[in-house]
Amino acid sequence: MRLDKLLSESGIASRRETARACRAGQVTVNGVPANRPDQSVDELTDAVVYCGVPVLYRKYIYLLLNKPDGYVSATEDGNDPVVTELVPPEYLRMGIFPCGRLDKHTLGLMLLTNDGALSHRLLAPKSHVTKSYRFALQDALPKEKIGLLEQGVNIGGYTTKPCRIRMDTASSGVISITEGKYHQIKRMMEAVGNKITALERISFGPLSLDPGLPRGSWRELTAQEINALSREIQAQTEGKESELS
Ligand code: URA
Repeated sequence: MRLDKLLSESGIASRRETARACRAGQVTVNGVPANRPDQSVDELTDAVVYCGVPVLYRKYIYLLLNKPDGYVSATEDGNDPVVTELVPPEYLRMGIFPCGRLDKHTLGLMLLTNDGALSHRLLAPKSHVTKSYRFALQDALPKEKIGLLEQGVNIGGYTTKPCRIRMDTASSGVISITEGKYHQIKRMMEAVGNKITALERISFGPLSLDPGLPRGSWRELTAQEINALSREIQAQTEGKESELS
């Protein structure tokens, strides 16, 4: 691949910055100064050093963010802060975006990545990745309404798929759904005459919200988590529904 492509995909430098650094003799490939930004390099075997710092080439990035209140799940918004503002700019240069949406006032687990194919497959209407949310309600949720919600309720002409609800108090608990319609949980609770007062996503497929990750903070996924996501996609492709817990 081209040297300037490698450096921009790695979030190190734009093409223009690479051209400038090459002219200034600040980029080396296997110890030899690179004088052309379009020089061809092997991203797996060549040792590229930019301004004295060895470059680790990574095509894909996977971040787990603990979304705070008030942020929009987008890369740009005219009015509100966006979730991508919470991570360092080099990730933005690598093209990360939120995988799926949480409402502005929903908190918790968000996956940010530049892996479009993985995101597409996790979010495809055909795939039924389980997402769990801790919720609080305005009013108590009686047993018969839990039963209705678990079987499926009508939200604007659409009947929701079966879900699981575990109550912690009379008006709070955890709901696990396998789809992601617009404002789905809020609309489900409205369909049984109640109202969400707080919502936090605590898991997304095999990923769980880290108890130690402060609100507004992020970390890279571990290799095990990335492998677990790949296995989830594989299972979805084979038509296996993920287990509702
Ligand atoms: N359901 C909602 O109503 N809002 C969210 O942010 C996620 C699921």
